[in-house]
Amino acid sequence: MTKPNSLNVLVVGGGGREHTLVQACLASPLRNKVIAAPGNAGIAGIAPCFPVAADDVDGMVKLAGDQAIDLVIVGPEVPLSLGLADALRERNVLVYGPGRAAARLEASKIFTKDLLRKYGLPTARSATFTEPEPALAYLNERDTYPVVIKADGLAAGKGVLIARDAGEAEDAVRSCLERKDFGESGCSILIEDHLSGDEASLHLMVSGRDFVVLPTSQDHKRAGDNDTGPNTGGMGAYSPAELLDSILLEKVGQVIARPAVEAIASEGLDFRGTLYIGLMLTADGPQILEFNVRFGDPETQVILPRMRTDPLRLMRDCAAGELADTEIEEKPEAALCVVLAAGGYPDTHPKGDTITLPEGVPENCHIFHAGTALGARGQLVTSGGRVLGVTALASTLTEAARSAYSLCEEIRFDGMHYRRDIGKRQLSQQTN
Ligand code: AMP
Ligand code: GLY
Repeated sequence: MTKPNSLNVLVVGGGGREHTLVQACLASPLRNKVIAAPGNAGIAGIAPCFPVAADDVDGMVKLAGDQAIDLVIVGPEVPLSLGLADALRERNVLVYGPGRAAARLEASKIFTKDLLRKYGLPTARSATFTEPEPALAYLNERDTYPVVIKADGLAAGKGVLIARDAGEAEDAVRSCLERKDFGESGCSILIEDHLSGDEASLHLMVSGRDFVVLPTSQDHKRAGDNDTGPNTGGMGAYSPAELLDSILLEKVGQVIARPAVEAIASEGLDFRGTLYIGLMLTADGPQILEFNVRFGDPETQVILPRMRTDPLRLMRDCAAGELADTEIEEKPEAALCVVLAAGGYPDTHPKGDTITLPEGVPENCHIFHAGTALGARGQLVTSGGRVLGVTALASTLTEAARSAYSLCEEIRFDGMHYRRDIGKRQLSQQTN
């Protein structure tokens, strides 16, 4: 496939991840024009945005044609699972993001579990059910808790329940298989052994059997400090994650990343995009918790700013199937991102509150927009749960945290809340 050197790029999505992707594309010598759909108010400040919803496959294909797009970078998982990448490739547009078949690696936990088992990749033992009675009988036979109940399909991060006892497990089974609380996504479930250890994730850029490992990062999924409160899409992140030191990273590369990429290719799945591997670092070695088929949000807000290698070049080469023998270079600086969320997030939250931003942003900082829009008078307002991501880069993580948090204090909107302990765990380990 040809690799154009002056690319018209379309970034699909409208979160903090996509703002970061647009910014990285604009910084690349390979770009001609960069547009986004649907984008957000922050993206609109740096690139033209078009009002096409991320899951509107036909609309997105038409936009790519109308705008003479060479490369489409797909941010979220839903358009991938709807076949956006396939529809674009049929029209000879380069796409960074897998087609529908490979997107099942995120869209179906049972599909992935079967693949992991077939290729002997390390993952928790599990059983699959579609009817409540056999699932409850299986639970009756076990006496070890907690146990993990997972809805098969996409459930916006809410489809995994860690049941502490038989009562909670039964309720989770009935919620999915009887009450259909997760609709289609929960019509099949996995009941999985609970794993203990530290969680880590790894982002790979994959093109067939070739891949590069991106800078390591750590997300903070719970809403509250000290990992309390409900799960969210992610309240902050930092990079590098020292938990994955060079020895462990080498091991994860050998026993997880390389065999996973080989397994996916051996299944005939055409994977050109980000493979995000969720890991549990157990006493028996690293185990795979899940695959995502796209960049993490807010992990992207710390990974891309730390890359010295041009991310757009890598994404173009992945999309063209020409990633072989690529090395990537990271910046030595640490990066830390704090997510500023709307009041009530991750539950219902208001929209339309005016956002006040500082006049200028220090050179080492970025304010990435997520749920923002322009109000009737052209003022910046909230329009989603995660509103902004404040990223800082510095020579140490301590300095990055200081810079990011001092910028957060200059930002205002009603109900704004954020975690005060992003990176704290790693920082406390460094000073001990
Ligand atoms: P997943 O979407 O499968 O990554 O699950 C979401 C979260 O549930 C993970 O980030 C873990 O915190 C937790 N989790 C999933 N599977 C397990 C497991 N087998 N043992 C312990 N925790 C798990
Ligand atoms: N931050 C977690 C995710 O993007 O899935």
